Amino acid sequence: MIDRRRFLAITAATAAAGGLAACAKKNPGTTTGSDNASKPITLGFSQVGSESGWRAANTQSVKDAAKAAGINLKFSDAQQKQENQISAIRSYIAQKVDVISFSPVVVTGWDTVLKEAKAAGIPVILTDRSVETSDPSLYVTLVGSDFENEGERAAHMLEKILGGRKSTVKIAQLEGTTGAAPAIERAKGFAKIMQASDPNWKIIASQSGDFTRAGGKQVMSAFLQAHSDIEVLFSHNDDMALGAIQAIQAAGKTPGKDIQIVSVDGTHDGFVAMTKHQINGIVECNPLLGPQLMDAAKTVHAGKGSTLPRWIKTQEGDFMADQAAAALPNRKY
Ligand code: AHR
Repeated sequence: MIDRRRFLAITAATAAAGGLAACAKKNPGTTTGSDNASKPITLGFSQVGSESGWRAANTQSVKDAAKAAGINLKFSDAQQKQENQISAIRSYIAQKVDVISFSPVVVTGWDTVLKEAKAAGIPVILTDRSVETSDPSLYVTLVGSDFENEGERAAHMLEKILGGRKSTVKIAQLEGTTGAAPAIERAKGFAKIMQASDPNWKIIASQSGDFTRAGGKQVMSAFLQAHSDIEVLFSHNDDMALGAIQAIQAAGKTPGKDIQIVSVDGTHDGFVAMTKHQINGIVECNPLLGPQLMDAAKTVHAGKGSTLPRWIKTQEGDFMADQAAAALPNRKY
């Protein structure tokens, strides 16, 4: 028989443990590690879509890294629609996954669903793209690139390509998905350098091609009809640049020569176009985020989310057309 003092002590200890567990559930990213360490992690991942070569490589990287890390991955493709991502996140909450990760199609409109994840005690890791939120506690960390820096690097690359030319340069810009972090920030970074260093550069046409090859072709074709004098194209990704190359050729011009092209990503197809000097330079945006994401998921699940930096940045390089042939055999995506 248990005496009263021992009974009270056991009851107090049980209540304290229960309280800790409840606390852990209520504070995503700061769970206690002991129980979590031995269970396989279930990660619910909502992908933007399959709009580009970059995205295909990113999806493969997430799937391969989950397998290698022994993480049970639940994957869904939102087909570039925010409502599909919100439904996927709600479904992961209902399934009580351990960690949620997603690559937000646009920056705004996430607070409600992120609060639902927080209330359910499920930590969220952003990957690739950021969100705008008034409450920074709604996600633990972002694993991804510095898009503004990519836009700045694209402008510096164009300075090199133009070789100090001082006359007016007429630029067309193919923007990524409207409202998406890479579209907003690449445009911002490019404009910043352009305004600071070269008042002769003029963006005479700028529109979204939604990060797709078809979108790039269609928008570039409309640009060329309205502006036969475009000299430079800054494309927010390789797929749109590849679509634009088709439109430029259809208009009887030579891509890379009549219209010089700077792009972002560094996909295999982008590199092939650089070996043909159709694209003059590419700013790399590395899609192979899977291993860093799985490491972050493990850290968060072990209760050490607070040790992670707010932003786990991706390492990437810049490539000019004359480097493409040598670099192509070593490209991993
Ligand atoms: O968010 C990364 C961007 O999304 C890539 O640059 C683009 O290709 C993709 O669709």
